[in-house]
Amino acid sequence: MTGEKTNLAVGASEPTAFLLLGVFKLREKKGMDLAIKCKGITKFFYETNSGGKSKGGFLPWSGRNSKLTAVDSLNLEVNRGEIFGIVGPNGSGKSTLVRLISTLLLPDRGQIEVFGLDVVKQKSQVRKLINRVSVDAAFFKKLSCWENLSYAARLYGVPIKEAKRRATEILQRFGFQEGKITQPMENLSRGMQQMVAIARAFFTSPVLLLLDEPTTGLDPKSKREVQEFILRVRESHDSTVLLTTHDMDEAEKICDRVAIIDRGRIVALDTPKNLKFMVKGESLEDVFMELTGKSWEED
Ligand SMILES: Nc1ncnc2c1ncn2[C@@H]1O[C@H](COP(=O)(O)OP(=O)(O)OP(=O)(O)O)[C@@H](O)[C@H]1O
Ligand SMILES: [Mg+2]
Repeated sequence: MTGEKTNLAVGASEPTAFLLLGVFKLREKKGMDLAIKCKGITKFFYETNSGGKSKGGFLPWSGRNSKLTAVDSLNLEVNRGEIFGIVGPNGSGKSTLVRLISTLLLPDRGQIEVFGLDVVKQKSQVRKLINRVSVDAAFFKKLSCWENLSYAARLYGVPIKEAKRRATEILQRFGFQEGKITQPMENLSRGMQQMVAIARAFFTSPVLLLLDEPTTGLDPKSKREVQEFILRVRESHDSTVLLTTHDMDEAEKICDRVAIIDRGRIVALDTPKNLKFMVKGESLEDVFMELTGKSWEED
């Protein structure tokens, strides 16, 4: 198994219906319409520096650990049914935030709730409500596309016939070549692998879908298909979608609201229209430049 190990582990399954019912009943009672609530989230990583000549040469043991703040006292609320975009330059903390929400990382400070459930204390309940698709989806690379999908179907408790029907429907919509379904995953292009990862995520009906750069590496047509698919899923499944992207057009096109993140902090959050209006800019890139004083590629 290569890539990130966790994609399969984080998935809703059909027997979650009872849990969902409980969550939605509780939500009705409390008027809880928040899908995600992050309160003062901070995540540190420790990096080993080689030290450099002045600090004692290039030997590995001459290095020192430095503390990096990937997510910095971040507050965020995502409403149920929203398609919420997180945009920001490389290394700004987008994937770390997604991994924190999806229970794959523990926050060093702060609290995260998914539909009122604490992601640390109620991890297994949270996992049943979410599904994550990352740009580096995990597959058994030597196994065929279909073998990977049927493995996931068994894991999620989806009958094989049903899994085949759903996967075929989604993959056909993406224009996935039929013959490729029996090919080993390692023979598929990155874009094709991405399509399979998305199809796999929809074996179940996740209440919260965490998409980390779902369209990176796709050609324009496939990109459009995936974007339309995300819009359709929101309508048909009453899902909430948190999506990270580098594609500003994508964020403007499909997101209800967008948070612009820089060095682990949210520098702006609003509808794409309001964000552009705020800085009298043409695009979200203009918003980023105006708020941070630097261009998108600079960091
Ligand atoms: N496991 C880790 N160990 C150490 N540092 C990490 C780890 N994961 C992320 N980082 C660091 O945390 C910071 C934020 O990384 P993250 O992957 O969240 O950024 P990103 O916004 O998703 O970037 P990109 O747009 O390139 O995907 C970066 O400086 C990165 O090097
Ligand atoms: Mg990332």
